[in-house]
Amino acid sequence: MKKILPALLLLASSALPGMAKTKAAAPDSVYLFAYASVKNNNHGGLHFAWSRDRANWFDIGNEYDYVKSDYGRWGSEKRMITPYIIINNKGVWHCLWSLNERDKTFAHTSSTDLIDWGRQSYPMLQLGKNCLEPVLAYNAKTGTYTITYTDSDHQYYQLTTTDFKHYSPAVKVPASKYHNASITAELPAGKQRGQVYRVAWSTVDGLVKTADLKKYQNTLYAETTKQDAERFKDLKPLTATIKIAPEKARPISDMLLGAFFEDLNYAADGGLYAELIQNRDFEYQPGDKEGRDKAWISTHSWTVKGNGSEMAIDSVSPIHINNRHYAVLTTQKTGAALVNGGFDGIVVKKGQAYNLSLFTKQLSGANTAMQVSLVDADGSVLADTKLDAANTGWKKLSAVLTPNANTEHAVLEIKPLTTGKVALDVVSLFPQNTFNGRVNGLRADLAQTIADIHPRFIRFPGGCVAHGDGLGNIYRWKNTIGPVETRKPQRNLWGYHQSAGLGYFEYFQFCEDIGAAPVPVLAAGVPCQNSGTGGAGQQGGIPMAQMDEYVQDVLDLVEYANGDVNTTWGKKRAEAGHPKPFNLKYVGIGNEDLITDVFEERFTMIYKAMRKAHPEITVIGTVGPFYEGTDYEQGWDIADKLHVPIVDEHYYQPPGWFIYNQDFYDSYDRSKSKVYLGEYAAHLPGRPNNLETALSEALYMTSLERNGDVLSMASYAPLLAKEGHTQWNPDLIYFNNTEVKPTVGYFVQQLYGANSGDRYLPNTLALSSNIDAVKKRVAISVVRDRKTNDVIVKMVNLLPVKINTDLDLSGLNLAGKKVSKTILQGDPTSKTARPETSEISEQDAAKATLPDYSFTVLRFAAK
Ligand code: AHR
Repeated sequence: MKKILPALLLLASSALPGMAKTKAAAPDSVYLFAYASVKNNNHGGLHFAWSRDRANWFDIGNEYDYVKSDYGRWGSEKRMITPYIIINNKGVWHCLWSLNERDKTFAHTSSTDLIDWGRQSYPMLQLGKNCLEPVLAYNAKTGTYTITYTDSDHQYYQLTTTDFKHYSPAVKVPASKYHNASITAELPAGKQRGQVYRVAWSTVDGLVKTADLKKYQNTLYAETTKQDAERFKDLKPLTATIKIAPEKARPISDMLLGAFFEDLNYAADGGLYAELIQNRDFEYQPGDKEGRDKAWISTHSWTVKGNGSEMAIDSVSPIHINNRHYAVLTTQKTGAALVNGGFDGIVVKKGQAYNLSLFTKQLSGANTAMQVSLVDADGSVLADTKLDAANTGWKKLSAVLTPNANTEHAVLEIKPLTTGKVALDVVSLFPQNTFNGRVNGLRADLAQTIADIHPRFIRFPGGCVAHGDGLGNIYRWKNTIGPVETRKPQRNLWGYHQSAGLGYFEYFQFCEDIGAAPVPVLAAGVPCQNSGTGGAGQQGGIPMAQMDEYVQDVLDLVEYANGDVNTTWGKKRAEAGHPKPFNLKYVGIGNEDLITDVFEERFTMIYKAMRKAHPEITVIGTVGPFYEGTDYEQGWDIADKLHVPIVDEHYYQPPGWFIYNQDFYDSYDRSKSKVYLGEYAAHLPGRPNNLETALSEALYMTSLERNGDVLSMASYAPLLAKEGHTQWNPDLIYFNNTEVKPTVGYFVQQLYGANSGDRYLPNTLALSSNIDAVKKRVAISVVRDRKTNDVIVKMVNLLPVKINTDLDLSGLNLAGKKVSKTILQGDPTSKTARPETSEISEQDAAKATLPDYSFTVLRFAAK
């Protein structure tokens, strides 16, 4: 789906210097120079300059990046080193570049206009220490491309291809075979090496216009309320005349608003998952943090208090192969205790019951008992129990602890009462007061805050967590079900540990508990596009020999969720305590993946298998991490080709983007795939989440409702963030061990969630100002909920002046309805603005005033 912005293009062409060149005055052809700069660790992409004489060069778009490298991690990778471009006899440009000083691979992409570039590929090479300065030659007679590269041992290698998909094996060649046609050009910003070609002026003109349009758009998108006093200094209070056309009501999705859950920012362990013991299974591994934290090992969060006992870690005969490590406590003299401090302390409440459980095994000596206590920071015992631990094989011991006081800083102490050697594993402490009283459940206050959004669906387990950092880190749902001691923990790609205690069963159960549809997202057989570990990294996929097994895993998920209790996987669901199906209807395949041939092959395989085995399931495809660009275009092409029912779009953009793109979905082709806007948020520089970002989201969401016929689902991202443990900002809900702190943006989501409809009532809004920047900051959406027959009017005013509305309510059949008015308003920088609701008359509703910087919801409901 190609997105063009005709109005902006027109504006840009006429308003910018250099854009109005007459055809008559322009040269027929000029020299074009292609290069990449080494600045910023080669993170810029392919740049161009042009010249009439090869001596005086004009930079195009101030080093605008026409194509950027997509290889490897953000930050350290995604480098374009020594790009080399050629054009073939069909007018197709091919570009190769070196990616880093390490990997035996290069990047390839192609373009017909130097503006839109195709998929990138990174063929693995057999020869050479690495791949440096690859050059490309084309033989038009045979249609063969020859790639020659060198390496850091100064050896030369060559390989050929006709399609950049299949390559001959590389062979070693003498240096004389290496012909690099790059020249050095003296550009305005300094000398650069690159290739030069004679091209039609129209080619350069296209490049200039592309860069200028982007620059113009970026100026609009950078608008913030900070400049509003100046921008709108002459603006007086406005009037808005609103007419609604209920007779033209049209169906919109009744699944529009959902929640996006990812185990990011300690959202799961230490967050929503109510377990109070950190590293309960002694499975923290240095690899979780890629070796950066020396203390991040099996003993993390555990200490021995007192003398006479020592802790060691062992892995011989574990409880389960998925849970390899356990602690061995050797006690020479009683009195010492093994202590766990929880996630920044254990919070307990007086009089509430906590389920304690632990696995033990006597290894030697006469240990027959141990005392387990909850102890406050001052040493006072809050609760304790004595456990009989004479078993010589692994056995689960349980007790209930009921603290005699409140504290936020308790620790759990396990004290052997006799000398000897005892093995301990999966030490767990859970409040009985979890959300909905579920065993192995969720933190009640956090779960309730999510439930209060009224999400129609919950997406899980990510985000990037779903496809993982490298092949070995792909989230495998089967590892996350069954008894917790058999689940397979793994490194969380956000740099910590995932216990899998919050697994697929718990996700499904939570969805059911709050009446939200489960939307699991599974990897499309490829890991995260930013993978930095796992060998082949992002461009590698699950080997084809293992894909059948992977596809079966995906199909088995449907059986696990919906299958009869007599099926293999349905039985496991029943064993977990849920014989009834979970009513799974949607499955996402892929998450903003890099669209490569490797991706397409695997996605297609999974998609077709799913269609065949489970036509009742709606598959959600993926179209990259941005609202434009190669992955977006190519992702949509695949969706078109395969008739994927829904695709998942993502964009994190400044408030200005949301203001100026309210028409984004107006032009979407209704005969194509529907859209799930799976991740979006307004980000201000410095990343605070305030009323300005919230209102720009509210403004944009009026357009989501208006386009609710093609826009099926939407979820703000990310959802949760634990203070002191964030890897991503801003987020919708912040929390610590005792408090939940919803942001202003949360209340926008909640107002939309609680006031959704399934019919859109078209309307017109005539504003007493004709200024585009003013009009773009006011929006309205009117929906009807057919279940209740309520009518809901949402109005956003992102201006520094109030707006007096004249709302024509005739034809809405509002007789006998009461009206509630909810307003979220304040200074745009406010982080504490909260919605306030009052009952008003229909007359007052028709003449409602929209305060400056406000979001108003009128609900006409049955009395
Ligand atoms: O929402 C945070 C991250 O943003 C998600 O994991 C990923 O899909 C996106 O890049």
